[in-house]
Amino acid sequence: MTSNTFTTRNLRKIYGEGPAAVHALRGVTLEIPEGEIVVLLGPSGSGKSTLLNIVGGLDRGTDGEVFFRDRKLSDMSDAELTRYRRDHVGFVFQFYNLMPSLTARENVELVTEIARNPMDPDTALALVGLADRADHFPAQLSGGEQQRVAIARAVAKQPDVLFCDEPTGALDSKTGRAVLHVLKDVNEKLGATVMIVTHAAAQADMADRVIRFGDGDVTDVTVNKTKLSPDDIAW
Ligand SMILES: Nc1ncnc2c1ncn2[C@@H]1O[C@H](COP(=O)(O)OP(=O)(O)OP(=O)(O)O)[C@@H](O)[C@H]1O
Ligand SMILES: [Mg+2]
Repeated sequence: MTSNTFTTRNLRKIYGEGPAAVHALRGVTLEIPEGEIVVLLGPSGSGKSTLLNIVGGLDRGTDGEVFFRDRKLSDMSDAELTRYRRDHVGFVFQFYNLMPSLTARENVELVTEIARNPMDPDTALALVGLADRADHFPAQLSGGEQQRVAIARAVAKQPDVLFCDEPTGALDSKTGRAVLHVLKDVNEKLGATVMIVTHAAAQADMADRVIRFGDGDVTDVTVNKTKLSPDDIAW
């Protein structure tokens, strides 16, 4: 038994083939312990989103092994990967991917209706401070509010893992900090492992573990002895 949420061994991802092949992951070996906040940093094109998509079950590696706890994702069928995503994973993207024709509550319900152990949608919206906006459509919400709906949708299924790809990239410091507080709460109150990809290096200060990427591989892993509150990180 392992106490890791994720383990990868020599994980490779090659997009395309022949002279046009892109080596997005060049043999990544990594352990992500349970219950941590992990921040992934690295230059554009270094493979961060590719890694997130593979451990999140949205894509597959070309070679190597990927485990979620003791289950081998890299051996799963498409149907098993879909079930893995549905039962265990929440995703928050930079651009919120909300359905424009549905209210905030209905956007969250899209997930809670098929989840195994969901929260009440209104509880999830309250967690992100949007209890009074449940009946609003995305176009009636600010960017930060839309991002918080996207987080409510991701956390409403009570995922074991929450993946966030540039969750604050489009936000000002005040709304960005509010979003980071929600991620911290999800980690502390639900015990979810939270993985955040960001270009904002200062967000490393709120992590348990900081993973630096360069050119398709991990270049450095740091474990923080103390973490800062989202209120205290530089913006
Ligand atoms: N679907 C794809 N087909 C071909 N190449 C791809 C594809 N997706 C990503 N790549 C390439 O793989 C490499 C890694 O991309 P990835 O999106 O993982 O980088 P990233 O670290 O997330 O960058 P950013 O910080 O800009 O989001 C890049 O060179 C990119 O061009
Ligand atoms: Mg990316």
